[in-house]
Amino acid sequence: MCVIEFSPRIETRRLTLRAPEEGDVARLACLADDRDIARMTTRMPHPYSLADAEEFVARTAAQDPRRENTFVLDHEDEGPIGVLGFFHDADPYPEVGYWIGRPFWGRGFATEAAEGALDWARRRWKKRAVVAGHFTDNPASGRVLSNAGFLYTGEVRTKHSRARGEDTPIRMMVCLL
Ligand SMILES: CC(C)(COP(=O)(O)OP(=O)(O)OC[C@H]1O[C@@H](n2cnc3c(N)ncnc32)[C@H](O)[C@@H]1OP(=O)(O)O)[C@@H](O)C(=O)NCCC(=O)NCCS
Repeated sequence: MCVIEFSPRIETRRLTLRAPEEGDVARLACLADDRDIARMTTRMPHPYSLADAEEFVARTAAQDPRRENTFVLDHEDEGPIGVLGFFHDADPYPEVGYWIGRPFWGRGFATEAAEGALDWARRRWKKRAVVAGHFTDNPASGRVLSNAGFLYTGEVRTKHSRARGEDTPIRMMVCLL
């Protein structure tokens, strides 16, 4: 049976994945205001303002948890370090996206968060597959996804990057849960 969890929490070795809150707005706006983060995503604006973070928190609070779930990645010592979310786009399966604040890159946090979120999606959310895509000039995200168990489907889509202001090729991947 599928149990609908409102505001699910996921614990990993160093992180708690939890619903975004009002109190996260200033911190998220500060970390997200980075061109090298926004340009690797389809939807994040650059510059990224307090109002953008407020809109993000409000939008995620209104999500239908059967279809979409967004998590702040809360580090045990550092506090919020990034975001991971499952959302729906063109596929029958949820798509995962994420970003990590620049001071925290290269410490395995994206991989740890993705693995924890996928485990939750399988065991608690009862999903059978998750898709993901990364811009062709973002090999680091390809590593994160490969390490978490994603495989390339061979499909390359073109999606608009808001921060780049242009269409950009995306390599699609899938993970069977
Ligand atoms: C991509 C991103 C999420 C990685 O976060 P992170 O916490 O530093 O990632 P991890 O430490 O878990 O792993 C990074 C992996 O990428 C690899 N990597 C880093 N830079 C790389 C590069 N330029 N080319 C190839 N691989 C690279 C690392 O070696 C590591 O792989 P490994 O464990 O196999 O050695 C982070 O840089 C980020 O937020 N970037 C901007 C937003 C973004 O790209 N979001 C994803 C959109 S699809």
